[in-house]
Amino acid sequence: MTVRDILKMGDPRLLRVAQAVTEFDSDALHLLVTDLLDTMRAANGAGLAAPQIGVDLQLVIFGSFERNPRYPDRPVVPPTVLLNPTITPLGDAEESDWEGCLSVPGLRGLVPRWSHIRYTGFDPFGDAIDRTVDGFHARVVQHECDHLWGKLYPMRMRDFSQFGYTEVLFPEIAAGEDD
Ligand code: NI
Repeated sequence: MTVRDILKMGDPRLLRVAQAVTEFDSDALHLLVTDLLDTMRAANGAGLAAPQIGVDLQLVIFGSFERNPRYPDRPVVPPTVLLNPTITPLGDAEESDWEGCLSVPGLRGLVPRWSHIRYTGFDPFGDAIDRTVDGFHARVVQHECDHLWGKLYPMRMRDFSQFGYTEVLFPEIAAGEDD
């Protein structure tokens, strides 16, 4: 088990467009996935992208690998390891909701996202993933994949009056918890 350091906003490695994975089902790839899972669990995150631990590859993880006690009421997103993703919005509908990010600790912002998307990609074995989703699942995918295009959620915000410290906006959320 290796919990890796998570890069924070301001680190230029978070602004890169990540490289596509070209070799599937390798020992190195499976080790990287294990490190991402360990790091996400240790931080109680809802998702994590390889660039957040300084790895320049198109690989994200998200979903409920186990029950997250912080979000008992959130809809369950299937545990997913997604490589080389594409996202296609289905229709023009958007919705805004609060997001946090392990690379932007202590803050939350209201972020507009596509309501309905289709996303594709591959799992670590090279098998295709192709899903049509909406709501929270669609939001998580868009947030995590944005890390692969060098975008952090504040870069997607339109109204900075809806941006602030978690402890002020949501005092019921314990200090030090971020996603
Ligand atoms: Ni994030």
